[in-house]
Amino acid sequence: MRIAVIVLIGTVLAMLTTASVRAAAGEQAFSANKCGECHVTQGPAQEKTIADQLAKKGPELWYAGSKFQQPWLEQWLQDPKPIRPLKYNSLSEENPGDHPKLAAGDAASITEYLMSLTSADVEVGVIKPKKNPKGRLIFVKKMPCSGCHQFPGKKFKGGRSAPSLHGAGKRLNPDWIYAYLKKTRVFKPIRMMPIFDGILRDKDMKSVAAYVASFK
Ligand code: HEC
Ligand code: HEC
Repeated sequence: MRIAVIVLIGTVLAMLTTASVRAAAGEQAFSANKCGECHVTQGPAQEKTIADQLAKKGPELWYAGSKFQQPWLEQWLQDPKPIRPLKYNSLSEENPGDHPKLAAGDAASITEYLMSLTSADVEVGVIKPKKNPKGRLIFVKKMPCSGCHQFPGKKFKGGRSAPSLHGAGKRLNPDWIYAYLKKTRVFKPIRMMPIFDGILRDKDMKSVAAYVASFK
């Protein structure tokens, strides 16, 4: 009897601590840690001019829940290794690698909060990571992807002007990669990266997204 009551209380408590409750705590921790000074969490994208983009101190996070994989995010917030070889919004300065670090507790709750920020423009379950020759051909030969992005290549390691795609298979949601290629303007109204929709066929965007999603 006593055990049953304890189990019942435990279950109720567990239900109260649902993801949404943890996300609310994470939202508070996000603001207490001043993350909002550099990151926008309100969508849709607000930047309209190059000046708007240059005024941003960090990448937008309003679709973080669609873009990232949860385990990667929680880990990265505790040990933030540079993603962009160069400083954000710069083409000459190195990335100083000075991103704020979080303790495990804040990292977990903030991750829960960020994972709740999703975009309806990302269709779920479309892309399966796959090291496919078609995607590779597009990435390294047919299209200039590797001219801007570092990637796990054998001889040529890729360019440095864009976020590195090393570890993209652990960091990025495969469906987001495809959505990003397909609907670039939704996520980046102002951007350095070319729009490939109309240049690549839908099939090819899927192949290259699956290829990038296989990067270790
Ligand atoms: C002083 C500005 C600044 C502050 C404060 C800041 N960030 Fe960042 N954040 C950046 C920059 C710049 C990058 C890009 C880092 C890189 O590419 O290596 C970044 C990257 C990120 C990323 C990866 C985004 C992407 O698209 O690659 C996440 C997630 C993130 N920050 C979360 C946070 C959280 C959570 C906090 C609060 C603890 C925080 N940031 C505080 C500037 C900031
Ligand atoms: C002219 C340089 C350039 C080329 C070419 C280019 N990209 Fe990008 N890419 C960027 C930049 C810069 C970003 C960061 C977002 C931004 O501000 O545009 C980016 C962002 C990305 C991201 C998101 C990475 C992240 O962590 O936020 C992916 C995935 C990506 N590109 C894949 C590709 C693929 C696939 C191709 C080829 C079909 C490609 N890119 C071609 C410059 C480029």
